[in-house]
Amino acid sequence: MVYYVRKGNSFLRGKKMNNIYKKTDDILKKNNQEHIISIMNNLSEEKKAAIAQQILDLDFKEIKKLYASTQKSKDIVIDKIDRIDPINPEKLTEAEIQEYLKIGKKAIRSKKLAVTIMAGGQGTRLGHDGPKGTFKLDIGENGKYLFEIVIDKLRRAKKKYGIYIPCYIMTSEENNAATKKFFELMNYFGYPKKYIRFFTQSSTLVLSEEGKLVIGENYLIQTSSSGNGEIFKSMKEQGILKEMKKQGTEWVLIGSIDNILLHLVDSLLLGIAIKGDKDIAARTVQKTNPEENVGVYCKQDGKVRIIEYTEMPKELAEKKAENGELFLCETNIACNLFSVNALEKASEQSLGFHLAHKKVTFLDENGILVRPDKPNCYKFERFMFDVFPSFNDIAILRGNRQTDFAPIKNAEGEDSPETAKKLYLEYIKNIENKYKRRNQNGK
Ligand code: UD1
Repeated sequence: MVYYVRKGNSFLRGKKMNNIYKKTDDILKKNNQEHIISIMNNLSEEKKAAIAQQILDLDFKEIKKLYASTQKSKDIVIDKIDRIDPINPEKLTEAEIQEYLKIGKKAIRSKKLAVTIMAGGQGTRLGHDGPKGTFKLDIGENGKYLFEIVIDKLRRAKKKYGIYIPCYIMTSEENNAATKKFFELMNYFGYPKKYIRFFTQSSTLVLSEEGKLVIGENYLIQTSSSGNGEIFKSMKEQGILKEMKKQGTEWVLIGSIDNILLHLVDSLLLGIAIKGDKDIAARTVQKTNPEENVGVYCKQDGKVRIIEYTEMPKELAEKKAENGELFLCETNIACNLFSVNALEKASEQSLGFHLAHKKVTFLDENGILVRPDKPNCYKFERFMFDVFPSFNDIAILRGNRQTDFAPIKNAEGEDSPETAKKLYLEYIKNIENKYKRRNQNGK
């Protein structure tokens, strides 16, 4: 059998491979990554050739920069952080709410809204084998897939507004093929295929604690999807923003795949954004306790930003406001409405990486797969909300936990399929009761 490495548009075969390996060995030695040479020497020719291809494509200067970023701490200066003053619907008059709803509904009917689901994450905590959207939750007669719950919402919107809202799904290099195959298999859950579009976010290398490249379970240099902050650049590079503008989309609701109560077609939020001439509008819920694993909105130097739970100092998490609420209590539930102009502006920004210290299975120099029992590697992630400080006009709408937020993150315990199902069933029951009351009053 002949093994080969792609070089430009041609392929190098057989004997020429030795030259390639010499070249990759030199690159690895020069960049203190000799352990990869030892690992490659234990592998089959086919696997070795695939790694050689990756090495030729790597930018080692970028790798050095990436590793240097792990050595810098990003301290949050507590005194500089202020609370957000959200729009509280309970304090709005009925007339104000009706006006926002009217504006929002008109924009939806006029085809100004598209939605985007972030589904590029790996969903490791849930332990589901496959894209998170293909997880089936035990609700309804036969259970429902998370992607199906999204499409159900769009089908209800079709009934209500008479239009098909375009739906964009962000996948990653790891799950793009499986996601598309799943939609084909499910016949797009009855939604017209032409209104569902996929785009793929990029990945970044995983590095060991010593800044070394890692060969993963797939016998390749390990990469990992590099956070939902890749969304803006990916939308631009893959022509999504252009397409949106062409079809007259002015607003895009971006939400995550794992909140089954996500307000995907949010006429109130849309009305608030349009009336207030905002760049971005976000729905929040109140944080329940200082330890909850959620990002929270705050202000720093007058700018809106989110502090992620992984970076939140304990003192700030526990700080109380004068009214007894947590000082930072507006939870990011990843329900963000962007104007298309704001998306364009965001796509021009170069966002920094956040660090995630994770357990990554790796191939050691003897060719043995090691499954660590504690974090051993760094993954690098961009967060979509890091663009917020560059916008002046952001509206924050305080939503309601019972109706807006039922996340599925973990296999068991908090934020699990079980807790989400309970919240979902309560939500449905409340809606049914509301309709019953309406009908009775109407009689
Ligand atoms: C996220 C938020 C957190 C918020 C919480 C609410 C971020 C960085 N953090 O935390 O502030 O309070 O949800 O539930 O957004 N995703 C991608 N590509 C990636 C990584 C993630 O598309 O590379 C998607 C996931 O599929 C998911 C969403 O982004 O839809 C959230 O990602 P996840 O990494 O699970 O964030 P959390 O830690 O849950």
